[in-house]
Amino acid sequence: MRFSSRLDWALPRNPLTQMLEAKRAAGEPILDLTESNPTHAGIEYPEREIAAAFDNPRILRYEPDPAGSLAVRKLISDYYNGAAAPHRILLTASTSEAYSYLFKLLCDPGDEIVVPRPSYPLLEYLARLESINVRHYPLFYDHGWHLDPHALETAITDRTRALVLVNPNNPTGHFLKRAEWESLAAICERRGIAIVSDEVFADYAFEDDAERIGFVAGESPVPAFSLSGLSKIVGLPQMKLGWIVLGGPERDQRAAWNKLELIADTYLSVGTPVQVAAQRLLALRHDIQRRIRERLLTNLHRLRSAPDIELLRCEGGWYATLRVPRTKDWAESLLRERNVLVQPGFFYDFESDAFLILSLLTDPATFREGVSRLLDL
Ligand SMILES: Cc1ncc(COP(=O)(O)O)c(C=O)c1O
Repeated sequence: MRFSSRLDWALPRNPLTQMLEAKRAAGEPILDLTESNPTHAGIEYPEREIAAAFDNPRILRYEPDPAGSLAVRKLISDYYNGAAAPHRILLTASTSEAYSYLFKLLCDPGDEIVVPRPSYPLLEYLARLESINVRHYPLFYDHGWHLDPHALETAITDRTRALVLVNPNNPTGHFLKRAEWESLAAICERRGIAIVSDEVFADYAFEDDAERIGFVAGESPVPAFSLSGLSKIVGLPQMKLGWIVLGGPERDQRAAWNKLELIADTYLSVGTPVQVAAQRLLALRHDIQRRIRERLLTNLHRLRSAPDIELLRCEGGWYATLRVPRTKDWAESLLRERNVLVQPGFFYDFESDAFLILSLLTDPATFREGVSRLLDL
């Protein structure tokens, strides 16, 4: 049997993973500061209300619609305070699936997308599955994260079809600012490139900033697609409901919509139960977000109050980045000598190993103890 080359991934097991497996097999207790699954993080959910949202005989009827139920699309339009029209919102089973639809829409095999570095590691794999190539544009750190429009432009080639933004970025927590937005929108307009903006963490800003652009499709002069879903905004990744909001010139939106509907019609992947439950689930987001935010801020405060930690400025999201001296491999040493698991920067394509990523979703007692052991190393 022959397999597609799009799955020819070199996936060497790195020393950290090997050490973790060995320690777990030996029964050693590990303090895990990488938990990014909110349903595994000890956050209390309004369980009865969530279960009640599915207690509805409408889940028994199948009424397929490639774009998803109009009633749900209206709810999502409300989530954007009307800045996104329901007929420009297309439902998907997840944000990851939304990416795959957009890469199919915009790229032929061998085409390119430009993605930020550092950023969300899954982008590379999502691109490979569509047989497209990834080029990177750097985010740089100088009293906060910034996007360098000149470096972005040099990453673009004749085969580039889309610029991916992760806004706020995972893991840096960088939000796109107005000045950055204006330069990158001008570049995309000049080069004829669409924008794909992953806004799954947009509701988790740690402070207000009038310079921030939260919803790219809402104000884009070029074809743009904003992505989000219940995974982060209601902290319920298992529900499998995401969406794409179309933005940019009306004519482009219409053309893109017709093609996206074709893609969605081919799979019809969004389940009926979650669409029936969506109204009640979305209504729970304020309560669930408050609980998640409380957790994030407790852990962030722990880092901010530690005198010997260089915490990079983090404007939002679920992660914190620490800069550590280049004296050793900190993630490996922490696991080997202190049984603490953190992610090394290279997992997210940081330029070097001198960064550690901690999940702010971690249970606070585990986080506190893990940080004490880190300070002690
Ligand atoms: C930046 C970012 N985008 C998308 C996703 C995936 O979201 P979904 O569960 O909707 O596929 C994640 C999950 O961690 C993420 O961090």
